[in-house]
Amino acid sequence: MMNYKNLLVYSIHDRELTRVAKKYFVGRLIDIGCGTKPYAELLKPYVTEHIGVDHEGTFHSKDNVDLFGTAYAIPAPDASFDSALCTAALEHLEEPEQALRECYRVLKSGGVAIYSVPFIWHLHEEPRDFYRFTKYGLDYLFKKVGFEVIEIKALSGFWVTFGQLFVYNLYRFNRGPLRWFRIIDAVGLMVQGIAYLLNRFDRTEQWTWAYLVVARKK
Ligand SMILES: C[S@@+](CC[C@H](N)C(=O)[O-])C[C@H]1O[C@@H](n2cnc3c(N)ncnc32)[C@H](O)[C@@H]1O
Repeated sequence: MMNYKNLLVYSIHDRELTRVAKKYFVGRLIDIGCGTKPYAELLKPYVTEHIGVDHEGTFHSKDNVDLFGTAYAIPAPDASFDSALCTAALEHLEEPEQALRECYRVLKSGGVAIYSVPFIWHLHEEPRDFYRFTKYGLDYLFKKVGFEVIEIKALSGFWVTFGQLFVYNLYRFNRGPLRWFRIIDAVGLMVQGIAYLLNRFDRTEQWTWAYLVVARKK
């Protein structure tokens, strides 16, 4: 969820997701590991239906989940979706290859899947946090299950990743007077502002916090 802590990474993520959704998403969308379906509004202009699937044991609110199932067994027929989205969920799946095969199954031929996956990120939603992916691993996995890989984009260089991890760490001390006077919020926003500026000059992509993958079912 976007808040003061992670404004920068979410704004980069949303900007890039919008760029590719505008270009590739159409028709019926399946959102795999949808959580609260945070991108429903953003994607509304591009799709006719946005169907979220998540598992019963999700830590998130289930209010926006349309289908209960798993990423390995989506309760939908073969080739029933034009588009697929999976944000920040592949790392939580113990069998990512199997999950990609299931996404491939429910997509129509020519349908496009957009995934965002972390590369340098702290442990979260434990214990269901299994992997971090490199762009080479992603390229290998998507091609292995039959996808044509259109794009794998590093979402930042060093500074955004470093700044974000620093800010998350800082929030561990957001207690007592520091919290009341919103000092940590102010410092966090300043660090993210500096990271944003430095990122424009130094895109050392080997330090990206995440990748965005766009892949098409052949
Ligand atoms: C970090 S959250 C991301 C949620 C949402 N996609 C977003 O971007 O905010 C990871 C999601 O993966 C879901 N998840 C974990 N294991 C799953 C599984 N086996 N099948 C389907 N979803 C799963 C979790 O319930 C959670 O909603």
